[in-house]
Amino acid sequence: MNISIIGTGYVGLVTGTCLAETGNNVLCIDIDENKVKRMNNGEVPIYEPHLDLLFHRNIKASRLHFSKSLKEGLEHGDIIFLALPTPEDEDGSADLSYVLGAAQEIGKLLKNYKVIVDKSTVPVGTSEKVRHVISSVTDVEFDVVSNPEFLREGFAVDDFLKPERIVIGSNSDKATALMEKLYKPFVRSGNPIIVMDEKSAELTKYAANSFLATKITFMNEIANFCEKVGADVDKVRAGMGTDSRIGKRFLFPGIGYGGSCFPKDVKALYKSGKDEGYEFDILNAVIRVNDLQKKILIPRITSYFNGDVRNKTFAIWGLAFKPETDDIREAPALYIIDELLKNGAKVQVFDPEAMPNVKRQFGDQLIFSANMYAALKSADALIICTEWSIFRTPDFERLKNNLNNPVIFDGRNLYDVEDMEKEGFYYRSIGRNF
Ligand code: UGA
Repeated sequence: MNISIIGTGYVGLVTGTCLAETGNNVLCIDIDENKVKRMNNGEVPIYEPHLDLLFHRNIKASRLHFSKSLKEGLEHGDIIFLALPTPEDEDGSADLSYVLGAAQEIGKLLKNYKVIVDKSTVPVGTSEKVRHVISSVTDVEFDVVSNPEFLREGFAVDDFLKPERIVIGSNSDKATALMEKLYKPFVRSGNPIIVMDEKSAELTKYAANSFLATKITFMNEIANFCEKVGADVDKVRAGMGTDSRIGKRFLFPGIGYGGSCFPKDVKALYKSGKDEGYEFDILNAVIRVNDLQKKILIPRITSYFNGDVRNKTFAIWGLAFKPETDDIREAPALYIIDELLKNGAKVQVFDPEAMPNVKRQFGDQLIFSANMYAALKSADALIICTEWSIFRTPDFERLKNNLNNPVIFDGRNLYDVEDMEKEGFYYRSIGRNF
């Protein structure tokens, strides 16, 4: 099939590349001329494991192309994916200006039947709005389909190639048949393509992300309570997670969820509720508790240093909001860095992928280290913010030799509490007794 993707962020680019992988002829459109040039020169503009290989393979096979021209995109694709940003508006709702702006342009350029697919995370009713905007400028036949993505950053290629489910929200048999044909190669293992009305599809995405954010937040509160009563959250998690109704995943406490999805989507669903006169009490609590959780290490650190971190040096391992990505949006590390700098501390950081992004934001306020051990040099404590694999089994002797004091504040529970005690560290983690 001929496919066009409008927007080459991580969702658009992964979608386009993976659809090319199953033999489709894909044209990706982006308004950023420089980005299009870079992609045409074979440069992958984001860090996403395994994307490189597929990207180059499909360019070489002439199945993956890039252009700045929306007109070309409309001429090329039988199915047109909208993978455009839906940033958080000032009031917490999703800003639809990119999606609706593109819809209007598409309407003006439409010459024959197309399926327009909403891939972006959009509030309930957006497909209807897109349909309305397009039909107000054209009489040509078209369908709008909601097809939310469930890709995790860092695993996006795997998630796309082997999805647990595909959700298609459509009120047109013709469009549904085309979408089913497109996705069939990805669900050969028997995972379902779930077809539903478009509003339910739109809500499915928000409900899934908000549920996962709630699950993590619940565990963060259990962890905080564990510390009060002397229980160990690792044990509680194991005891709970073996109940198949609860499940083992997404029960890991930490310093709050971040990223470009959970924070924005929970707020957007809460706001959608409010707009309809419905108060999502749970989501309100999730937002509040997560904000507090992101701050949880700061009082611990300051109290360890008797209320004064001025002129102290801190090493931070991990800046990305989670491992296997260079994305720092809503990353807990940023909050911690901000607070430490505000209080007069010096901060030395290391992250395998995210340092260029942090450099753009903080410039020379931070020391960017060449490797994880260099970041520890003469630091008064180590703070762990992201659970990159390389941080899991460090050389503890080297750690002790480099640090001024053997002190670790671990926001991701990477080490055994007993082991750390034996190694002679002051080790503070989340929801586990020292
Ligand atoms: C999330 C969803 O998992 C995807 O299904 C969805 O498609 C995507 O949002 C999206 O809407 O585009 P992502 O934001 O990439 O994916 O990251 P996750 O792996 O879900 O992690 C989100 C946050 O939760 C991270 O800050 C992570 O550290 C935190 N987390 C996750 C925990 O604190 N504990 C856990 O047990 C799991």
